[in-house]
Amino acid sequence: MARPAMLPAAAVALCAAVLALAALDGGVRAQQLSPGYYDDSCPHVYDTVRRVIQEARTGDPRILASLLRLHFHDCFASGCDGSLLLDETLTMRSEKAADPNNGSVRGFPVVNDIKAALEDACPGVVSCADILALAAEVSVELAGGPYWRVMLGRRDSKAADFDGAQNLPDPKESLKDLKKKFADVGLDDTDFVALQGAHTIGRAQCQSIQDRLYNFSSTEQPDPTLDHGYLAALRQRCPAAAPGDDGTALNDLDPATPDTFDNSYYANIQCNRGLLRSDQAMLSAPEEGAESTAPIVGRFAHSQAEFFQSFATAMIKMGNIAPLTGSMGEVRRDCRVVN
Ligand code: HEM
Ligand SMILES: *[C@@H]1O[C@H](CO)[C@@H](O)[C@H](O)[C@H]1NC(C)=O
Ligand SMILES: *[C@@H]1O[C@H](CO)[C@@H](O)[C@H](O)[C@H]1NC(C)=O
Repeated sequence: MARPAMLPAAAVALCAAVLALAALDGGVRAQQLSPGYYDDSCPHVYDTVRRVIQEARTGDPRILASLLRLHFHDCFASGCDGSLLLDETLTMRSEKAADPNNGSVRGFPVVNDIKAALEDACPGVVSCADILALAAEVSVELAGGPYWRVMLGRRDSKAADFDGAQNLPDPKESLKDLKKKFADVGLDDTDFVALQGAHTIGRAQCQSIQDRLYNFSSTEQPDPTLDHGYLAALRQRCPAAAPGDDGTALNDLDPATPDTFDNSYYANIQCNRGLLRSDQAMLSAPEEGAESTAPIVGRFAHSQAEFFQSFATAMIKMGNIAPLTGSMGEVRRDCRVVN
């Protein structure tokens, strides 16, 4: 223990806090999420979500990745409550305008299409927060990844959390800080490493990696943990800032199999071909605590089955971050505005 001399009074206060938490948990348990939440009220919810995503996918293979990311960004700003989907109003800043989201997250028209189809089938029943959770699962499955029983019954927030969205994990943050952001919402190191495996699909803009290519940590040198051949290829796609270049050119997060959900993301990292600094750091930043994440990267690189199992478990845990249940919040009729 770091503080063996804890005062009895402090110890008592701590125990009281733990008891209060336990009581709260007991109260909330009555209204936990469950896979069968819409069995009676909207029995075809899963097939409807799947059909709309299948259609969207034919013209836009990247949509699977984009939808998966939306659930993450929703859950990490004030919990999985659909807050990400709210548009800006005169009195409320939208999460969509926050730095990690603006010009980066995509897929909102497909979410609206899903919502419209569900409002047709079962009006006022399926929340926007649950649509994001379902869309994430369907997307992973369609990309070749694992499936899991999506927990349902979330309700939608009546406000956006702009500040929370500003504070979303950033690829330039230290591994230590990133791990803490996940730990703070109940996601341990295995969850952290598994969830980052979502980067087995999708794209990142040059501006997300520009510093690694030309001026890492203000050294005016590239990131030394970046494989040389990969560095050269990335520099071709992302030239040093030229006038008029906005850094929006896209790179595959997993160059080995860009649209397939598999474990090659972890093999890339083992070859120093993690695209984002935050991807590579799990193996290559010993000074930031990689000793706890590196072995997990190794396990997932070695066993796709282990990765899939851990990813499914972690997605269910992430989907459980501070949901609104019971009579909290509302079920939005239009995901973009409160009722
Ligand atoms: C340490 C945590 C994470 C960081 C720092 C991070 C950062 C990023 C960045 C910078 C991009 C590219 C954005 C752009 O250039 O426009 C991205 C894309 C993506 N992220 Fe993450 N991410 C993290 C965790 C996650 C998690 C937990 C998931 C889902 C479970 C996820 C899913 C995705 C997907 C699928 C894409 C590609 C989206 C697309 O192509 O539209 N990420 N991430
Ligand atoms: C979003 O980014 C664009 C440029 O990419 C910028 O012009 C716009 O002002 C930003 N929006 C907000 C709300 O910050
Ligand atoms: C490298 O980055 C630092 C800090 O971000 C900046 O002050 C410096 O001007 C950059 N160097 C070049 C050559 O862009």
